[in-house]
Amino acid sequence: MDRFITLKEIDQVTDEIRKRIDIQPRIGMILGSGLGPLAENVENPVFVPYGELPNWPVSTVIGHEGRLVIGQLEGQDVLVMQGRTHYYEGHSMGEVTMPVRVMQRLGIEFFFVTNAAGAVNPEYEPGDLMLITDHLNFVGMAGPNPLRGPNLDEFGPRFPDMSQAYDKELMDFARQVASAGSFKLNEGIYVGLAGPSFETPADLRFLRSIGIDAVGMSTVHEVTIARHGGMRVMGVSGISNKANLDGSTITTHEEVLEAGQVIVPKMVSLMRGVLKKI
Ligand code: HPA
Repeated sequence: MDRFITLKEIDQVTDEIRKRIDIQPRIGMILGSGLGPLAENVENPVFVPYGELPNWPVSTVIGHEGRLVIGQLEGQDVLVMQGRTHYYEGHSMGEVTMPVRVMQRLGIEFFFVTNAAGAVNPEYEPGDLMLITDHLNFVGMAGPNPLRGPNLDEFGPRFPDMSQAYDKELMDFARQVASAGSFKLNEGIYVGLAGPSFETPADLRFLRSIGIDAVGMSTVHEVTIARHGGMRVMGVSGISNKANLDGSTITTHEEVLEAGQVIVPKMVSLMRGVLKKI
């Protein structure tokens, strides 16, 4: 069911966060399933549990801690979301993307989004990173786009451009960091599905045939909102399972969380490296 978020609701949250911090974060980050430990690197952290924020959609998924961690990383003031809420939990697109609106109202310019994703590209291995170069908005294409409903003109236009959703300069920085640190960084297209069931082999073969490299249940709607508001976006997927195109393996949430442990150190190096460059 649709529930559209108003500017007033967004600002209630923004004000509550501002009361608790005395810095002006420039970078906002969302950490996906199993990637929460990345937030342990934040210095001078202020923690804000989601449950203490008005209107904030609270996640029930294991592997999602559910709090903001605000502090410094590589000398930059950052606001990190340790865990996110998903559409499949029953919230509207407006509700699940409200945190991205709050980041915009806080003055954040750069949006770094991470997720755990399943491989669709058969060459990807669990534990790999994939720089998202573009996405397919499968959920929103014929219905629940997060911008459906009254346009919030304070953020952006009714019909925002999405031709450069992922910032070219940030992608270049990520490539430079990966090659300097000699870790593999795949590049590919992410598709956002509604979930929560994982894909059938037929789903995966279909997605592969239309040029998809990785599949997940988040990110796309968040990036749509971020771009509407003019934030510069970098997206990175941690690949948690191999492309099961022939149905020979099964996919579990435990597997997704396990792969996170291999992915976190690489994701930390990548994020730190890019933060140094901006
Ligand atoms: N499919 C969708 N989302 C996912 C997957 C998957 O295989 N792995 C981690 N998130």
